Amino acid sequence: MTPNNASIACEKICRLAPIVPVLVLDDAADAAPLAKALVAGGLPALEVTLRTPAALDAIRAMADVPGGVVGAGTLLTPADVKAAKEAGAKFGVSPGATDLLLAACVEYDLPLLPGAATATEAMRLLEQGYTIQKFFPAEASGGVPALKAIGAPIPQVQFCPTGGVTLQNAPDYLVLPNTICAGGSWVAPKSLIKAKDWRGIERLASEAARLSSTRTNS
Ligand code: 3PG
Repeated sequence: MTPNNASIACEKICRLAPIVPVLVLDDAADAAPLAKALVAGGLPALEVTLRTPAALDAIRAMADVPGGVVGAGTLLTPADVKAAKEAGAKFGVSPGATDLLLAACVEYDLPLLPGAATATEAMRLLEQGYTIQKFFPAEASGGVPALKAIGAPIPQVQFCPTGGVTLQNAPDYLVLPNTICAGGSWVAPKSLIKAKDWRGIERLASEAARLSSTRTNS
């Protein structure tokens, strides 16, 4: 299967670092310093979840941070896609995939990393050229053994497992031949954002960036 344009773009983004931070921001004023800390720590691809009123302003603020590639997560509707694109998101991430959402991402030219949790979902996306997919919710869907099992019959798809991934279990995912990177919120904990502990977040990012040594697929 030839990758579609979205997956060609997402493959490049997913190869930037082993971990894509999943970010929940309550205050857009934290966005730029947070992005700078994560980029400085070695994690340039950032996913800002559209789960808070501050999310779109946060994407706008992060879009100007040198070295960062900012995407919008939790895309559920065409309106989310339009808003994310207008805010400056370079890519989108969704927990699952619907025809409406996929069409909106094509219409607004926003490369999508679509979510799949089963072989059928992965196959449906692959039929449309999505060779790069998010495996979500990773741990709740069976974790490493499930992802490994999906890879046996469907080796064409590379996944970014997200949901329950930690510094401790990330290497078990990254060593799989069908894992391109992983997503996780642990590198930007709410407590450190609230305390504006950007040094602390940079340290967590550096630690996560070093996981590249455990990556099969770099
Ligand atoms: C989410 O839905 O918030 C993401 O999948 C991140 O999950 P995590 O908090 O378990 O890393």
